[in-house]
Amino acid sequence: MNILSAIESALAKENLEVIKRIIGKVFSELEDHNNKIIIYTLNGTDQSVRRDFLLKELKQILETKTIERTKYYLNRLHKSLSVQKEGKINEINLNRWKEYEDIITDSLWIFDKRDSSGAHKADYWGNFIPQIPNQFLKRFTKKGDWVLDPFLGSGTTLIECKRLGRNGIGIELNKKVAKAAKGRLAAEKNIFEIRTELFTGDSSTIILQPLLRKLKVKSFQFLILHPPYWDIIKFSSNRSDLSNAKSTEEFLKMFGKVVGNTYPFLDKGRYCAVVIGDKYSSGEWIPLGFYVMREMMSKGFKLKSTIIKNFDQTTAKRNQKELWRYRALAGGFYIFKHEYIFLFQK
Ligand SMILES: C[S@@+](CC[C@H](N)C(=O)[O-])C[C@H]1O[C@@H](n2cnc3c(N)ncnc32)[C@H](O)[C@@H]1O
Repeated sequence: MNILSAIESALAKENLEVIKRIIGKVFSELEDHNNKIIIYTLNGTDQSVRRDFLLKELKQILETKTIERTKYYLNRLHKSLSVQKEGKINEINLNRWKEYEDIITDSLWIFDKRDSSGAHKADYWGNFIPQIPNQFLKRFTKKGDWVLDPFLGSGTTLIECKRLGRNGIGIELNKKVAKAAKGRLAAEKNIFEIRTELFTGDSSTIILQPLLRKLKVKSFQFLILHPPYWDIIKFSSNRSDLSNAKSTEEFLKMFGKVVGNTYPFLDKGRYCAVVIGDKYSSGEWIPLGFYVMREMMSKGFKLKSTIIKNFDQTTAKRNQKELWRYRALAGGFYIFKHEYIFLFQK
């Protein structure tokens, strides 16, 4: 289908009826199409566009009453199909912004299901849902960029990197966990032929410079931090594990050291996401999230967004739903149903 030339021929006409006849013909042809994606030619190369998007745009043109408005919409559609308006830090074509329905721009993220496709498994207690790195990689990186996750856990970020064509480095303290992540990662196809590297070690003290030099990596274009939520889950008995911090102060100090150790390798102007939840201790709400936010800002990061994400309770708590509801009513507190995702820019 030659959509662009149909639009161009409509734009050359000065009679609204004639324009609508040309566009109406394209609209009915598209309605009869079975494919979700329509291929069209631009400067001799094949381009694709979603059929439902095209139908919506053409319908709007057909419903317009004046020739000026009709031409305005036609020109806009022509531009969106022929001119790429890409930012520096992602591959989103802003001339076709309406098509990115999968990218969230609101600050409330509610997911009812985790993506458990391919190598993603829900079996690592304390992992985040793949949709979190997926959203950020699409919005703040391009293919071939380098991403660092210094609290790698089961490798969720690197699996998403592989899927989206971003290179990734993960650091994980626990040898067993790192080994399992490696195995999981190997099970994910590498269609974009990117590189994923995994180091076992303490992210607060690991010396990144020589490791990166060896890999010929100069810097990162995105940083994602998903630390333990202090001691809510004990990840190991290792003293360097953030989940073994003896106090909130120590937890923040350890977290701050990881930030200080990785911050220099993030390019200026680039983004960093922190995923963290609060906790209760001796009947008191400990605002870990806000403490962590302050720590990030004290290291030089600029806060760009605070996102609230729904939080699935642990299986143990889910099985004791009624007991927890009773305790909440009696004890004057609220049951955690959310966590925070803070977005920062360097
Ligand atoms: C909340 S989990 C991250 C889960 C990960 N996002 C995933 O989807 O599997 C935190 C991880 O940080 C690791 N960790 C704790 N202290 C660390 C440190 N000092 N250096 C590196 N990793 C650490 C823990 O072993 C745990 O696997």
